[in-house]
Amino acid sequence: MSRTILVTGGAGYIGSHTCIALLERGNTVVVVDDFSNSSRRAIETVEALSGQGVELIDADLTDPAAATSIFADHRIEAVVHFAGLKAVGESWEQPLRYYQTNLGSTMNLLDAMAKAEVFDFVFSSSATVYGDPEVLPIPETASLGATNPYGRTKLMIEEICRDIAKSDDRWRMTMLRYFNPVGAHPSGDLGEDPSGPPNNLVPFVMQVAVGRRPMVNVYGNDYDTPDGTGVRDYIHVIDLAFGHLAALEHLEHGCTEYNLGTGNGASVLDIIEAAELASGRPVPYEIKPRRAGDIATSLADPRLANEKLEWRADRGMESMLRDSWRWQSKHPNGFAD
Ligand code: NAD
Ligand code: WQD
Repeated sequence: MSRTILVTGGAGYIGSHTCIALLERGNTVVVVDDFSNSSRRAIETVEALSGQGVELIDADLTDPAAATSIFADHRIEAVVHFAGLKAVGESWEQPLRYYQTNLGSTMNLLDAMAKAEVFDFVFSSSATVYGDPEVLPIPETASLGATNPYGRTKLMIEEICRDIAKSDDRWRMTMLRYFNPVGAHPSGDLGEDPSGPPNNLVPFVMQVAVGRRPMVNVYGNDYDTPDGTGVRDYIHVIDLAFGHLAALEHLEHGCTEYNLGTGNGASVLDIIEAAELASGRPVPYEIKPRRAGDIATSLADPRLANEKLEWRADRGMESMLRDSWRWQSKHPNGFAD
């Protein structure tokens, strides 16, 4: 079913890949982004790769009037909401900015949607809402409890959505809890473009492989995991993009939560080894103390999304790192190249 979809944060890493998937499926895409953490070149690349145009609105969603005017100017039928701030460390330094941006923009958006009677909503939540999990792999029914201000914004937005969905049964809301997104578009022309030193492992490893940084700091090898380093459920950004299509196609009344992960774990050392294979370059590393706030293992139970959304993440580690490397080696300085 082709529709007109508003993609907030559509110039960002996951949003831009999702725009391509939406366009290729015949949807019309309207993007709103303030480019606070992205480049206009991402949108140009989306258009080039899909061969289709995107309606671009340069606006900050923390401005309520900007949110309202989107719906006055466009016949939006559903919203996929990526826009927000996402760096855990920064959220400890600037918690107020995180609450203002993530909660403020979401509340403005939901208010504008209700006024325009647009009730289909897919939200970028995160595995971070599970905090330090008690059960592995983690089902959607696991207890919730974020451990940092960024994670609390995700948890609070989920709670806001659950309240709103209860208040008016026209809402069809889906919370997608992503595990660890990695990889890039297979063309090598679209990928994650972090400003400054990357916080996340895979972009950092890639910058070491390409020679921008001397070595990877491995944060701890004394966790209760097979090799002592942190284990995560890495998911290819293309699989994640398809997860949004599946969510839009299977929207249900109320508010429903789904894990988007593979169910497979990889350690930090597994990632370094796979990156060496994918790039054909050495990736030197040093063991450092644990990073504050990190957990030993995060692993999705993706069965609910497999069954109800008829979606599965099937790209493996080799494909994830090969595509990350193609993007990194073609564009060593991201969209600046
Ligand atoms: P990103 O930073 O690449 O994309 C977010 C986009 O939102 C950027 O283009 C940014 O310019 C835009 N934006 C930020 N504030 C805005 C505002 N006030 N108004 C308009 N646009 C604004 O991040 P991403 O990795 O693509 O993540 C997308 C979403 O998924 C985020 O909500 C993030 O919290 C969530 N998420 C990401 C990960 C991950 O590891 N990348 C994991 C779980 C959840
Ligand atoms: C993965 C593993 C690190 C960097 C974060 C957010 C989470 C979500 C995804 C948005 C861990 C280790 C890392 C490095 C390392 N984002 N590591 N050296 O911490 O699982 O999740 O991003 O929602 O909320 O917390 O991902 O890629 O930072 O770390 O050794 O330079 O790699 O300790 O074990 P994380 P990550």
